[in-house]
Amino acid sequence: MAQEMSPLAFHGTVIHSLALDELEILEDCLLIVAGDGTIQAIHKNVPRSDVDALITTQGYVPGTISVRYLQRGQFLCPGFVDTHNHAPQWAQRGVGRGQSLLEWLEKVTFAHEAKFEDPAYARKMYASCVRGFVRQGTTTASYYGSKHGEASQILAETCLAQGQRALVGKCNMNRNAPDWYRDASPADSIRETNEFLAHLRQIDPARKLVTPVLTPRFAISCDRDVLAGLRDIAKANPDLPIQTHFNEAEQEMDFTKQLFPEFPHEAALYEHFGLLTERSILAHCIFVSEPELQRLQELHCGVAHCPIANTTVGPFMVAPVREYLRRGLKVGLGTDSGGGYSSSMLDVMRQAFVVSLARRTQTDGRDPPLSLAECFFLATLGGAQVCGLDGKIGNFLVGKAFDALEVHTMVDEGIMTPVEDDDSTAVIWEKFVMTGDDRNIAKVYVQGKSIK
Ligand code: GUN
Ligand code: FE
Repeated sequence: MAQEMSPLAFHGTVIHSLALDELEILEDCLLIVAGDGTIQAIHKNVPRSDVDALITTQGYVPGTISVRYLQRGQFLCPGFVDTHNHAPQWAQRGVGRGQSLLEWLEKVTFAHEAKFEDPAYARKMYASCVRGFVRQGTTTASYYGSKHGEASQILAETCLAQGQRALVGKCNMNRNAPDWYRDASPADSIRETNEFLAHLRQIDPARKLVTPVLTPRFAISCDRDVLAGLRDIAKANPDLPIQTHFNEAEQEMDFTKQLFPEFPHEAALYEHFGLLTERSILAHCIFVSEPELQRLQELHCGVAHCPIANTTVGPFMVAPVREYLRRGLKVGLGTDSGGGYSSSMLDVMRQAFVVSLARRTQTDGRDPPLSLAECFFLATLGGAQVCGLDGKIGNFLVGKAFDALEVHTMVDEGIMTPVEDDDSTAVIWEKFVMTGDDRNIAKVYVQGKSIK
């Protein structure tokens, strides 16, 4: 990553979000990526005949910088940001439907994650996992690792080696899990976390690609000593993001209440342990009471909305996303792979749309459904905000990193709705979002580097 690459230029259609309700479709756009992988310039409505002149004004000699001319049906869009993802569940996706959350953890998940004790297995499976997400256009993922410090280091190394941007966390869990799959003691849990943080500082000191994230699995699996240890780390490292599962299921909330009767709700619990801040990524947030919602607002927490997992693990659950957006909370989308059976952010966008229709019914129309443009925002800039990376990624503003997808909608291989001669660019984009897949994601760039 350190060395400069050749600068790059693209000419053609560029689609990105400027805000929740502002999808920008730029035709005949000239986008220049500098050698350090950041966006140097973006000009709209540039006739092809003017490209060389504009490149010259940016300090390049035409002919010495490669210009990629996008054809009809091809466009650039920002890479997807998956705000909630369990890397060690890569090999269990789709397995174990028809169970409650806690049953599914106990009967399916812990046994899968326990395999990451073996570093060779971790290396092989994480290589496949990261490759799988990259090919589907996930340029940034916020990963939960397993409980193993070493395997979680391997996950971070894998992201670096493949060029994917990521938040990576060693999962803290020292109770309510089998003794063959839990941290041996609170001291061990915190020691392994510190070693993990030190390793990440060493392999990517400037956090060019990989950022460590504190990852208490949820309060059920962490006793007070572990949570207090994480509070100390968070306090000493105010720039560390924090992720956990939050108000995900009634069964989980009831059990949490039994374990922590001193707190009226999960917001109070996590806040007490210093884990509710503007750097918190709270997965699911399905049943959030009014006092909790106010606290999340005041503390500027982020929500990782995972509509596929919410509707297919345990009962069909609908998170009040419109309400979160109304309140100005940061919201992004997460696959929750493998609780979510799909690892595709396109699928997550579609399910976010479907579930928002259910929410409209549930609220007698008070919560309007998400538009596709809003779903696209959540999958890109919204997710970047949740991960604390919106100064760097999420759309194509000058100065941001070029984390992008080159989408080809007219390909022989694939099942996307065919593009017709009279389709507008907006319709082509809609067809891709609703029916495209990895075969339409021809190229993936992170920090200007092509990684697919
Ligand atoms: N809560 C605690 N662990 C998990 C997990 O692995 N997946 C989901 N969806 N919820 C959890
Ligand atoms: Fe999860």
